[in-house]
Amino acid sequence: MEHPNRLRPQSINACTKSVNTFLLVSTLVATVTFAAAFTVPGGYNSSGTDSGIATMLRDKGFHIFVFCDSIAMYSSIIAAVALIWAQLGDLTLLRDALNLAVPLLGVALFMMSMTFTAGLFLAVSKLQWLSTAVLVMGITFLTMLSVILIPLCTPVTPSNRIYRYISYYVVYLVILATGN
Ligand SMILES: *[C@@H]1O[C@H](CO)[C@@H](O)[C@H](O)[C@H]1NC(C)=O
Repeated sequence: MEHPNRLRPQSINACTKSVNTFLLVSTLVATVTFAAAFTVPGGYNSSGTDSGIATMLRDKGFHIFVFCDSIAMYSSIIAAVALIWAQLGDLTLLRDALNLAVPLLGVALFMMSMTFTAGLFLAVSKLQWLSTAVLVMGITFLTMLSVILIPLCTPVTPSNRIYRYISYYVVYLVILATGN
C-alpha cells in the first residue's frame, strides 16, 4: 500500500474488495453498538421522576460500558464514511482512507468486545464465580485480540520496525501454537 501510484491492476482490485469487506464490518459494528446503547444492562427506569434513566447509572461497570460503546459506535461510523470516500476511484484517496479506516475499525472491534465484557459482567455480577469467570475470559480474549489486531492496524511500511517485530512474534506464536 505504500506506493499507490505503482499499484498493479490486480492489487487495486484487491484493495477495492477489502474496502467493501471493511465497510460491511464497520456497518455491522455501528449497528450492534447503536442497538446496545438502547438495550443497556439493567434497562431504563420506567416509573417516577427517574423515568427513562438507566437503572445502573451509578455502577462503575456501567460507565465502562457507556464509554466503550460510544467509542466503538463513533469510530465505526468514521471508518464507514472514510471507506465511502475510498470508493471514489482515486488511488491516493484509497490509500489515505484505508490508513484512517483500518485502525479505527480495529479500535471499534476492540471496544465492541470490551462493551460485551462489561455488559455481561454487569448482568452476572451478583454471582461471584460467574462474574470472575466472565472477567477472566474477557481479559484473556481481549489480550489475544490485541495481539492480532495491533499489527493489522499499524500503518504498513517496510521500514516500520515495530510492525516487523510484532508480526514476527505473532507468526512465531502461531507456529508454536499449531505445533509445527
Ligand atoms: C426508579 O426510580 C424511582 C425514583 O424515581 C426509584 O424509587 C426506583 O427504585 C427506580 N427503579 C429502579 C428499578 O431503579
